[in-house]
Amino acid sequence: MPLVSMRQLLDEAAKGGYGVGAFNVNDMEQIQAIMGAAKETNSPVIIQASRGARQFAQDKYLFHLILAAAELNPEIPIAMHQDHGNSFETCKSAIELGYTSVMMDGSLKEDGKTPATFDENVAVTKKVVDFAHPRGVTVEGEIGVLGGVEDGHGAGGSGLEHITDPDQAVEFAERTGVDALAIAIGTSHGAYKFTKKPDGSVLKMDVLIKIHQRLPNTHLVMHGSSSVPKDLQDIVNEYGGKLKETWGVPVEEIQLGIRNGVRKINVDTDNRLAMTGAIRKVLWTQPEKFDPRDYLKPAREAMQKVVATRMTQFGQAGHAGDYKPVSIAVIAKGYADGSLTTKPLVAAR
Ligand code: 13P
Repeated sequence: MPLVSMRQLLDEAAKGGYGVGAFNVNDMEQIQAIMGAAKETNSPVIIQASRGARQFAQDKYLFHLILAAAELNPEIPIAMHQDHGNSFETCKSAIELGYTSVMMDGSLKEDGKTPATFDENVAVTKKVVDFAHPRGVTVEGEIGVLGGVEDGHGAGGSGLEHITDPDQAVEFAERTGVDALAIAIGTSHGAYKFTKKPDGSVLKMDVLIKIHQRLPNTHLVMHGSSSVPKDLQDIVNEYGGKLKETWGVPVEEIQLGIRNGVRKINVDTDNRLAMTGAIRKVLWTQPEKFDPRDYLKPAREAMQKVVATRMTQFGQAGHAGDYKPVSIAVIAKGYADGSLTTKPLVAAR
């Protein structure tokens, strides 16, 4: 199956009332782990690459590895997504390469660190939408600022500093015409999100619910949504790692989000932990090993297990064959003739 539009994946997820995991990749083993899990659970999937990943793997390698995944798994709808584009140029280069979806993270300035003004965010995101939609490419925007730093991108700090204002979310969706909207509700990228199991004082699910009530038809995106499970932390530390005690986003909170308009859930850290734990275990317990396959195979298997579990928990499992993906050209026509609306339905307050 060719790569498909993320908009179509998310529209279908909304119809079915489930969420779709968006998993970050940097290399072949991670792509294979995701595809193994998608096949095992019969799930549609979003594979995403940050700017750092595109640099690390080099654009062409990563792109062709994901094309190979699509070719080898014709029954699985796959959207290929640029995670956290920092500028119009970054998004344009992804679109020209063949990505079917981009995130324009205009919540930060182009340096990927300094919070931007609301009007700056609207302007750059709208510019990306105007370039992407005629080409059938989906756009995710972000309003509010996440905490932490991922691959050098992020404002740092806790996730509580720039929580999304629901009124601004409505205005942003109306003025930009984005297909999906990432919101800041207290989560942050990386392993160190919360110092104890999060409650409503640090993880603002009430804000998410308010935004969903105002924008009932807008696909919401939860970033920083690794659960950082204790068993994965323990494996890393048992075999020489030095992770400090930490908490992620509990799966039941993500499921509450999915019942309230969340359609895309970004997960990277859990997979990093799973792979690192598996590699540490081999190198620690079998120090005589030196063939990379001896540790990359268990690493790939450990990641596949985490991804398959999340696919089941997010509800996307079993939905790969529900619909016939349409071509990007048909999606482009839909934007042009208005059948794929980008005017959000706004509920009265
Ligand atoms: P985690 O660090 O929680 O996995 O978040 C990943 C993410 O949001 C990528 O954009």
